[in-house]
Amino acid sequence: MSELQDAVSRRRTFAIIAHPDAGKTTLTEKLLLFGGAIQMAGAVKARGEQRRAKSDWMKVERERGISVTASVMTFDYEGRTFNLLDTPGHEDFSEDTYRTLTAVDSAVMVIDGAKGIEAQTLKLFEVCRLRDVPIMTFCNKMDREARDPFDLISEIESALALEVTPASWPIGMGRDFLGCYDLIRDRLILMDRSKGDEIDEGIECNGLDDPRLDELLPAHAVAKLREEVEMARGLMPAFDLEAYRAGHLTPIYFGSAINNFGVRELLSGLAENAPPPRPQPADPRTVQPDEEKVTGFVFKVQANMDPNHRDRIAFVRLCSGRYKRGAKLKHIRSGKLMAVNNAVLFLARDREVAEEAWPGDIMGIPNHGSLRIGDTLTEGEDLRFTGVPSFAPELLQRVRPDDPMRVKHLRKALEHFAEEGASQVFKPLTGADWVVGVVGQLQFEVLASRIEAEYGIAARFEGAGLDAARWVETDDKTQLEKFIELNRSALAEDHDGALVFLARNAWHLNRAQEDFPALRFLKTREQNRKVHTAA
Ligand code: G4P
Repeated sequence: MSELQDAVSRRRTFAIIAHPDAGKTTLTEKLLLFGGAIQMAGAVKARGEQRRAKSDWMKVERERGISVTASVMTFDYEGRTFNLLDTPGHEDFSEDTYRTLTAVDSAVMVIDGAKGIEAQTLKLFEVCRLRDVPIMTFCNKMDREARDPFDLISEIESALALEVTPASWPIGMGRDFLGCYDLIRDRLILMDRSKGDEIDEGIECNGLDDPRLDELLPAHAVAKLREEVEMARGLMPAFDLEAYRAGHLTPIYFGSAINNFGVRELLSGLAENAPPPRPQPADPRTVQPDEEKVTGFVFKVQANMDPNHRDRIAFVRLCSGRYKRGAKLKHIRSGKLMAVNNAVLFLARDREVAEEAWPGDIMGIPNHGSLRIGDTLTEGEDLRFTGVPSFAPELLQRVRPDDPMRVKHLRKALEHFAEEGASQVFKPLTGADWVVGVVGQLQFEVLASRIEAEYGIAARFEGAGLDAARWVETDDKTQLEKFIELNRSALAEDHDGALVFLARNAWHLNRAQEDFPALRFLKTREQNRKVHTAA
């Protein structure tokens, strides 16, 4: 095996999806703890606090107690290198989450054992399904009164139309929760519940018949475990690697993140079975991870991470080849070569300059706005990775500065945020006020607060009387021209110059569709694909 193939086979790039409060942050901390990337649980939050203290715009985030930004954490375990991509759980930020899911090879779905599948879990799961992302399920909070495991499993099966196989089984629950039995490796690891911040080795038992089980657990618990496991094994399919990797089967791990129960089993499951970097769809050909030449794409841009510098970090998922510091990469959208000297890798604690990086790794490339979401980088070949989506915003408002002299500054800020993917901006073909589109109401507040904190502009968002934005596509030039002529006042350009129809209401949109059957009114647009312009 070449060094490249070896590095590829060891990489596990994944994300955790969850409804808010299910325990994603806690599980992340514990995974990092097992991975040896942090000494103390709580470090993820503590570091977050520090960062927040520095930048004002995150006030909104702090007040609401939600995580707005996503980050990347790299750690090693059992000879594997894990890249964990954090995704914001709040529904208002789902667009960011969707894009992050384009950069992973698998996902862990965390559910609350008392609640089962919740609204946001379902939404995020659907995105994974669109891309056939394999999913492991972690059923958390089994130390509280949770629902019956059989009941939870059948809910997952019916709500997600997905086969489920138990990978670990809870021993008791609530106050009597004693741990989990690993059904894949057929062994028990008992943890001491009080050692929340430390990892002990645990006590291992081999097989359900190991007499040590009877010594370690109360008789009724052992009896129940044996009975339930037998039943589960009879009722549910056994773990099947192929079915899991194709996204048809999810192994479920029961546990309690806060007590470290079930976390090690999950991590071992990821190490052993989660897919290494997958081939990536691109135009005109699919890229294999073990190709020698470097390729990658931008799935996220974060601007102004340090408010004192107008720097931006483009998060690049490497898809093939071995990146070495100083590599000259072609930026396909502009056709320009760029020497990449200062890319960083994100370790759990820090970032560090990337001397080398491999397929599946996420590099941060600092830049001044040249790199945008969806951009492809290669060693020269003209190809574009496909599938990084832009979604039609669900809320539209006009925005204007309190001080009319600052219109230009405000526009610049709005363009920056649009490039970062924080919101969308539409420039009407007629009229002066730009329209901002977002997925959730909270984003307007975040934006207003960032515009003030980062650009020193007081701005007001106002209702625009608009109901929907749709990208317009067609092969029929004549009809397009006619449409533009008749609907100029309802048309705008997005930040890439693509033509967008801003509908006042459902009737307005229907009418346009009926009158111009050759036009397609699209709810999603692939980033940086060829676009129709008004010109
Ligand atoms: P999130 O990122 O998915 O939103 O969830 P997070 O990890 O922040 O967890 C949400 C709450 O659930 C937290 O409580 C957390 O301590 C608790 N929790 C996480 N895992 C478990 C578990 O295995 N068992 C139990 N009983 N609780 C768990 P909080 O009170 O909101 O915050 P905190 O003050 O404890 O940090």
